[in-house]
Amino acid sequence: MLSYQHDYHAGGPADVFKHGSLAVLLAHMRTKNKPLTYIESHAGAGLYDLSSPMAEKTKEAQQGIQRLLIQSTLPANHPYLQTVEHIRKRFGPNHYPGSPWIARLLLKDEDSIHLMEQHPGTYASLRKNMRGEKKCHIHHRDGYEGVLALLPPTPRRCLIVVDPSYEVKTEYEQAGRFILQIHRKCPTAVIMLWYPLLKDQFHPPLCQKLQQANLPKFARREVLLTHTETPRRMYGCGLMFVNLPYGVEETLAGTGCQPF
Ligand SMILES: C[S@@+](CC[C@H](N)C(=O)[O-])C[C@H]1O[C@@H](n2cnc3c(N)ncnc32)[C@H](O)[C@@H]1O
Repeated sequence: MLSYQHDYHAGGPADVFKHGSLAVLLAHMRTKNKPLTYIESHAGAGLYDLSSPMAEKTKEAQQGIQRLLIQSTLPANHPYLQTVEHIRKRFGPNHYPGSPWIARLLLKDEDSIHLMEQHPGTYASLRKNMRGEKKCHIHHRDGYEGVLALLPPTPRRCLIVVDPSYEVKTEYEQAGRFILQIHRKCPTAVIMLWYPLLKDQFHPPLCQKLQQANLPKFARREVLLTHTETPRRMYGCGLMFVNLPYGVEETLAGTGCQPF
């Protein structure tokens, strides 16, 4: 089932939490003088127009990035704000970066990027939006299968981002199994998994499974989306990390994860 379209949610509070955290992690990882492979199993379109009918329909960005820009709660040199500003200057003020562009902007030229996207239309948009970017490989492929096929990558030092759409309830179980498979194939990989907090409470078994797996440098952070104006099925979201580099958790607690 591929009916999810991120255009409805781009730049919303959940994206601010996820992308703010990702930017902090990438900014930290790029300080090491060793090339890196960035891999995403569920890449989306890479770039979003917040004036599109889909974004206008939900107005999620008003509660997310637009609120953040007005309130100026993050320091101007925060890597997330820097990527957002870069994209607004380059593509126009209504544009917002997806995680592929955040990675492209925060990584170095010698780093490699692999992006998997299964939806044919979204894959075409991703190709167009990342066109000409150096060392950026775009795969029209099932991310669960494609990521495992790439491991261990070259360069071996890697960050793997797993951001499924959780369209079916079984995807929580699949995501948990996937993180353990990645870790088994590549024990040093830094992994970041996003998950929603729904009123239906599908996430606790996923969190328990990973928390009980004795994964190295494991961390879990969640945010409640208190600024949404209508009661929603999704009341918050979370991130789980494996091999989170030393010092990043403190930075996330300081600025990256709690943007409001
Ligand atoms: C939440 S969106 C990704 C958003 C993106 N990571 C970002 O933050 O900008 C999830 C994406 O995964 C795609 N998708 C769903 N199932 C997939 C699968 N098995 N393999 C690859 N892509 C998939 C969807 O089409 C959708 O574009």
